[in-house]
Amino acid sequence: HSVGVVGAPFWKGQPKDGVEKGPDFIRGAGLVEKLRKQGCTVKDYGNVTFQDVSNDSPVGKVQRPQTVGLANQRLADVVKAIKNDGYICVMLGGDHSLAIGSIVGHAAIKKDLSVVWVDAHADINTPLTTPTGNIHGQPMSFLIKELHCKMPVVPGLSWIKPCISANDLVYIGLRDVDPGEHYILKSLGIKAFSITEVDRLGIAKVMEQTCDHVFSRGKKPIHLSYDIDAIDPMVSPATGTPVVGGLTYREGIYITEVICQTDLLSALDMVEVNPKQAKTDDEIKSTVNAAVDVVLGCFGRVREGSHPPDYWMP
Ligand code: ARG
Ligand code: MN
Ligand code: MN
Ligand code: MN
Repeated sequence: HSVGVVGAPFWKGQPKDGVEKGPDFIRGAGLVEKLRKQGCTVKDYGNVTFQDVSNDSPVGKVQRPQTVGLANQRLADVVKAIKNDGYICVMLGGDHSLAIGSIVGHAAIKKDLSVVWVDAHADINTPLTTPTGNIHGQPMSFLIKELHCKMPVVPGLSWIKPCISANDLVYIGLRDVDPGEHYILKSLGIKAFSITEVDRLGIAKVMEQTCDHVFSRGKKPIHLSYDIDAIDPMVSPATGTPVVGGLTYREGIYITEVICQTDLLSALDMVEVNPKQAKTDDEIKSTVNAAVDVVLGCFGRVREGSHPPDYWMP
């Protein structure tokens, strides 16, 4: 695999700082070296630099719309460049509002994407349904074509053109969904495997059905948006909005192994790692380690082990 890594040290899509340290912690755990060791060609594009916008007062409930809008415009341009260079783009967040720039940039180069969203949350509140005003709980609402008529114009965010059909989105791991979000999922018929479906079917069937769904309209590039809070907070506690009863580490990694086997992964977001939310160093370690293993699993790491094709038995 050819992998282009970019850090997006940005936290202003939600109120808790510290998540901007995600990229450097994930790199610090040896991500790039580990990817190379498993045979990937890696280019590290470094961290995106973001500008602050002054007088960015809330618009309705929406917090910091100009700052988040500008950050995502910057990110979209970088993701476009990485895709144009021919890499699978790995965006290290940062909070999940960054999925806006990541998906818009990806979709500008690869028309007709499927999105697999692994998260405790659906992040599909509109600016009118959001209970918190935090944009990291809203990115998908800006991207879904069928929701466009329900979206108010928010200054700073009005440049976003919806680029994903409701049919091309699959959720895995949901367990904290707001009423407005649940209404959207049901009324648009969005495929969603909540944690209850993971319990009922097991992760293997969930992934089979995820693949059936995303392949049903042809083999399109996949954008995997992976929020570390999808995995249980016993494993990944260092995150801003932990929700009990999540995916096990094994289920979380199994998802990536199946996505890798499709050979259609075209971009990956690894978001919401917030070292500042940890109570101990071990909590940081466990969370960052899970994030690194998610990325490695997407690019060929298999738990049964492996050997190079030219391996010679000594
Ligand atoms: N649903 C809540 C909200 O709209 C929480 C969203 C959490 N999102 C996240 N990316 N961690 O604010
Ligand atoms: Mn989440
Ligand atoms: Mn999220
Ligand atoms: Mn592969």
